[in-house]
Amino acid sequence: MSLRRHINRLRSFLKDDIRREVDFSATDQNRGLPPPPIEKPCPADARRVDLPAAGSWTGLRPVDLSAAIRDRESCRSYTGAPLALDELAFLLWATQGIRRRLNAGTALRTVPSAGARHALETYLCVMNVTGLKAGVYRFLPLENQLLHVGGGDALPDRLTAATLGQSFAGRAAAVFVWTAVPYRMEWRYGAAAHKVIALDAGHVCQNLYLVCRAIGAGTCAIAAYDQPAMDRLIGVDGVDEFAIYLAPVGKV
Ligand SMILES: Cc1cc2nc3c(=O)[nH]c(=O)nc-3n(C[C@H](O)[C@H](O)[C@H](O)COP(=O)(O)O)c2cc1C
Repeated sequence: MSLRRHINRLRSFLKDDIRREVDFSATDQNRGLPPPPIEKPCPADARRVDLPAAGSWTGLRPVDLSAAIRDRESCRSYTGAPLALDELAFLLWATQGIRRRLNAGTALRTVPSAGARHALETYLCVMNVTGLKAGVYRFLPLENQLLHVGGGDALPDRLTAATLGQSFAGRAAAVFVWTAVPYRMEWRYGAAAHKVIALDAGHVCQNLYLVCRAIGAGTCAIAAYDQPAMDRLIGVDGVDEFAIYLAPVGKV
């Protein structure tokens, strides 16, 4: 997507969409169209990795919630120690895990979402996770699996470049990249979807900050990145799906 289209989209979001009245009668939901899938589909023969199931994870520290909130801070320096697969599975569950399936088009997750639409997908740039080859993966919350979407060649350098020189992203054990799939929210809210997608992303990242403490790790929200470069890095088209927020995670 051209830079001009990105700038126009952002300008339209800030000046118009964020203040727009919701015209529910004009939404696809009220026109009777079926809801889009709650998880981005993937090819049946795609390479997947099973994640350890909730409840089977070992090595998590009990954390006092009020202390976690009091001591929350952005961490940009990591020890270089690997994350365990149990730890990564725990972080994924805490940020996008499914609590309850309501019907084919709706699921409740560990984070809130406007209308329970959950218009985000989670990509992981994995650099140092025990038992996982370096590369780009997508979390499949319905299956509790990781889908392999790309190789790990020069991933730290590509991440540093795509985050406009923020080299701590390239030194993390893994970088969470949340994308927006706008139609999943627009189906119900039309143009008002864009405000609530951004609000939803905040909840997700806050959970990541808090639960990182339970595995002796830290994170730092990143919204300053090169949009086309980041979309290319995780293999999304930048139109129907685009990166919206990032968070490197590493042991501290
Ligand atoms: C929406 C958002 C975007 C941010 N983007 C970046 C970023 O690109 N790079 C960075 O180093 N920190 C980024 N931060 C982290 C802030 O700089 C940090 O939260 C702030 O300095 C306060 O520090 P604290 O989180 O330790 O309380 C971002 C935080 C938020 C909430």
